Amino acid sequence: MTTFARNQWYVAAYSKDIGRELFARTVLGEPLVFYRTETGEVVALADRCVHRRFPLSESRLDGDTIVCGYHGFTYDRTGTCVFVPGQSRIPRTARVPAYPVVEQDSFVWVWIGDNDKADAAAIPRAPWLADPAYTTVCGMEPLRARYELLVDNLMDLSHETYLHGGYIGTPEVANTPISTEVDEDKEIIYVSRHMADAECPSFYAKSTGIEGRITRWQDIEYHPPCLYLLHSRIAPVGVLPNEDGSDPDAFHVEVVYAITPETEHSTHDFWAVARDFALGDDEVSAFLAESNRTVVLQDVTALDVLEQVIESERDGYQELSINIDTGGLAARRFLRRMIERGSQAGSRPVPAVRS
Ligand code: FES
Ligand SMILES: [Fe+2]
Repeated sequence: MTTFARNQWYVAAYSKDIGRELFARTVLGEPLVFYRTETGEVVALADRCVHRRFPLSESRLDGDTIVCGYHGFTYDRTGTCVFVPGQSRIPRTARVPAYPVVEQDSFVWVWIGDNDKADAAAIPRAPWLADPAYTTVCGMEPLRARYELLVDNLMDLSHETYLHGGYIGTPEVANTPISTEVDEDKEIIYVSRHMADAECPSFYAKSTGIEGRITRWQDIEYHPPCLYLLHSRIAPVGVLPNEDGSDPDAFHVEVVYAITPETEHSTHDFWAVARDFALGDDEVSAFLAESNRTVVLQDVTALDVLEQVIESERDGYQELSINIDTGGLAARRFLRRMIERGSQAGSRPVPAVRS
């Protein structure tokens, strides 16, 4: 049985990654090819020629059509074949699936499932990434582990103390209890950890310039399956928001992850860090980009190991969960529900790619 939730939106790429070059990316085991039309819209098609399965991403664009690099079958932006070599009659079944695509908040979102169920209004938002009031650094690291391990990892930040000590982890993260709230109707999970008096990790000390201890808030908001938001608030100890909600004396960082399954055993780990201070400061941007990438790679290394362990050992290992896992367990429950709901969605006649 699949572990993927179909009939959902997933981040396939950053908008800046898609241009007039063919761009290959596998999402939920489905090989896709992306490109931008001459008028600038993003197109996503199955990345397999209907003739002999040659990857369309290894082919070439001619205007808004893709000409297969093997024998020249030519597809328009809807995936319909408009030319075959050596005959004027084009077979009725000569088409590749086209996928609904939406560009929003600097991401290219793709719908995997039944096209008629795709509702762009259901895509969760990460508005800071395209807001001039913020400066953003971002990247994507390939993870050789199933996406559920990344969900687990991000829902419990107590690991920062141990896995990311010296970067974003300090003793207070693991020592401060969390509160978890689950919105069953909207299927959103909130996990909060508010540290009143904490050491300032170098990630924030160097970027904000704060000296001394801080009040540090971490408010997670996970929109399964794909979008994870961490609202991070850093201020000198004791500085709280005003009663009207304004918060001029704090620094705000919106950490955004998009968790996109590539195959059953690999994941696209998109990360972005948006800040409302040191706007446009290239030095701060370079520091945050480098530090966050290092932190992401620490997770990647750990999760790659964990994937190997899980794949090589017997099924049915009984894990032990504690309070810090409340959010992660709620996430697993939502994901199971979504997988069940999406299992009715039609599957595509393309081979799954295993990495
Ligand atoms: S494989 Fe594409 S035209 Fe033959
Ligand atoms: Fe981490």
